[in-house]
Amino acid sequence: MKLLDVLNGQTVFPPPVWMMRQAGRYLPEYRQTRQKAGGFLDLCYNPDLAVEVTLQPIRRFGFDAAILFSDILVVPHALGRDVRFEEGVGPRLTPLKQDEVDSLDASRFHERLAPVYETVRLLRSELPAQTALIGFCGAPWTVATYMIAGRGTPDQAPARLFGHSFPDVLQRLLDTLADYSSEYLIRQIEAGADAVQIFDSWAGVLDEASFHNWCTRPVARIVQKVRERFPQVPIIGFPRGAGAYYANYRTETGVTALGLDWTVSWLQARELQAKGPVQGNLDPMRLLAGGKALSEGVEAILEQLGGGPLIFNLGHGITPETPITHVEAMVRQIRESKR
Ligand code: CP3
Repeated sequence: MKLLDVLNGQTVFPPPVWMMRQAGRYLPEYRQTRQKAGGFLDLCYNPDLAVEVTLQPIRRFGFDAAILFSDILVVPHALGRDVRFEEGVGPRLTPLKQDEVDSLDASRFHERLAPVYETVRLLRSELPAQTALIGFCGAPWTVATYMIAGRGTPDQAPARLFGHSFPDVLQRLLDTLADYSSEYLIRQIEAGADAVQIFDSWAGVLDEASFHNWCTRPVARIVQKVRERFPQVPIIGFPRGAGAYYANYRTETGVTALGLDWTVSWLQARELQAKGPVQGNLDPMRLLAGGKALSEGVEAILEQLGGGPLIFNLGHGITPETPITHVEAMVRQIRESKR
């Protein structure tokens, strides 16, 4: 598998490619299956339909990796929190109060997530042998931001305020999430995931000390626990917006590869790549725009990072309005490129 070769440190050219949120609303076949499932969580917990939507982008574009179809918020849901996805507005949770942190209900954690493990098992048997299967979880900080605010916010002010007001309580919440997320990833690997990714989409809103305590430390805890059980399975860390903290994040967490967002400079990206594989980092708005914006963006990544271990990806998820022809053009350009 090309993706695993890169994660083992090899340079593969043209690089393997997949996209964050590659199964999603920009695909008509996704929208159709989604409608059949009913609610979004019903889709996540229905192995046959979750397998179907995971495979859709593989059939269409022949990506080098499939990512399990689920959501980072199934973890708080399996910890007994109320999680809903409202059409057109996104996730809604009952905001977690500080006196509820020590009474999360984990009694049915793996039972609730059993359909996700079943999805992974089915996927590994149905995917082509050359297509890697990526499992995932949200990083504790990013999951906590949704648990505390009860929704997505522009800068996660509610979770930052919570953490600065009650640092010990937040730390206990992050430790709990790290422990259950580790178990969740281990079960996904047991079921057949070839690699795992930890999504820290809200890493970029923190000061240096908070980044260390709330992003780096909990992710290091997950990496350590997963490695105790599966020393060889690659772990991709994606601390979106980490900027100047990317380098320390890699050394201190021990992740195998770093997911880069599109704001990282080429100089920094190449310095990071000199220490291990990187993944990214096309601006999803270049993909949405298409044409020259897209081809120049793809070309720059191949030129700047194609000489080392690279997994081609976007710098964040594809947006629902993106034309399928743009994705086809991106994949064609990557596959036809020569060095
Ligand atoms: O990447 C993939 O194709 C795998 C599936 C996947 C989903 N969510 C499916 C999804 C993955 C890896 C995620 C991760 C996720 N979920 C993150 C981290 C990555 C990121 O995008 O920052 C976060 C923060 C969430 C929480 C979440 N889920 C939000 C904020 C939303 C609403 C935004 C939106 O696009 O609607 C979701 C819903 C969601 N998760 C959808 C999909 C395909 C769209 C829901 C729908 O079909 O109605």
